[in-house]
Amino acid sequence: MSLLEDLQKLKSEGEKAIEKATRLDQLEKIRITLLGRKGKLTALIKKVSSLPLEERPKAGKVANEIKDFFEKGLGKRKKEIEEAALKKKLKEEVVDLSLPGKLPLVGRPHILNRVIDEITEIFIGLGYEVAEGPEVELDYYNFLALNTPVDHPARSLQDTFYITEGISFGEGLSNQEIKEISSKIALLRTHTSPIQIRVMEKRKPPLFIIAPGRCFRHDVPDATHSPQFHQVEGFAVDQKITLGDLKGTLEVFVKEMFGQERKIRFRPSFFPFTEPSAEVDVSCIICDGRGCRICKESGWLEILGAGMIDPNVFKEVGYDPESVTGFAFGMGVERIAMLKYGINDIRLFFENDLRFLQQF
Ligand code: PHE
Repeated sequence: MSLLEDLQKLKSEGEKAIEKATRLDQLEKIRITLLGRKGKLTALIKKVSSLPLEERPKAGKVANEIKDFFEKGLGKRKKEIEEAALKKKLKEEVVDLSLPGKLPLVGRPHILNRVIDEITEIFIGLGYEVAEGPEVELDYYNFLALNTPVDHPARSLQDTFYITEGISFGEGLSNQEIKEISSKIALLRTHTSPIQIRVMEKRKPPLFIIAPGRCFRHDVPDATHSPQFHQVEGFAVDQKITLGDLKGTLEVFVKEMFGQERKIRFRPSFFPFTEPSAEVDVSCIICDGRGCRICKESGWLEILGAGMIDPNVFKEVGYDPESVTGFAFGMGVERIAMLKYGINDIRLFFENDLRFLQQF
């Protein structure tokens, strides 16, 4: 075969190979086999110089044309491959504007915070101001200053999460010594009543305070118990505040919170820091007092503890119990939320399951 024939053969071979290439790396391999330093065309070009003199110009010209032909062909195919790749990519990434949108998750206040706000708003409307206190509290504020003696059962390890270890009340201590020890014992507050003391020791009456907060007790969790829970404390101190004022205030609150048709009832009870003390019931918001499963057929639901502030509490904060009186009450936020929204398990509040939380 003559060199010219070899060249023609390579031309059609190369042309086919270039056309078949579908990827850039394949194309580059073809370029190297044809035009590389050790490529097929390069090898044929080298042979031109060994031809008889008169055949060289023609063969050289043809070889150069084929080189040109390959270069153009490779360039064209490269563009085609790149364009096809781009087209494919654009097709895959196309945005379908008719698809339904994905709604972003929008946060909202936790149901307990909403209920706390609802309660506090009602009292703000009655002229109360909001106060807060620490969740890690001293024994003094949580118990002693609230007229709760050192041997009171509420202090027991079974109820209270103590933080301070190794300090306890010995026998035969003076009141001063008891107070000193009590002021060194840190615990997680078991109720919001210590806020009463913290506010009263800093300020003088008249005081109308509403104080929400998280509390802790050593309870085994079940449908109605949780080691963390929330209370809203309220108290009023002024001259000549009476039990009638407490009743009227709570009646307004209950009607605002649960509906104008609700009634309240006081049952005698005991708290160390109030005298007299009462447990307050609201007529059942499910059956309207007729009797149902929720109110255990009694027609009433217990919602808070209350009473007239004990003179010993006033003495502790330096108030004269002869010239000031006051009432206090405390309610469990979870219980109120459960009653109001028909929630049957207190643990739901703390599990952070969005399927629960998003319902409110
Ligand atoms: N602190 C009491 C409790 O946790 C509730 C209460 C508050 C009772 C204020 C009377 C007055 O049970």
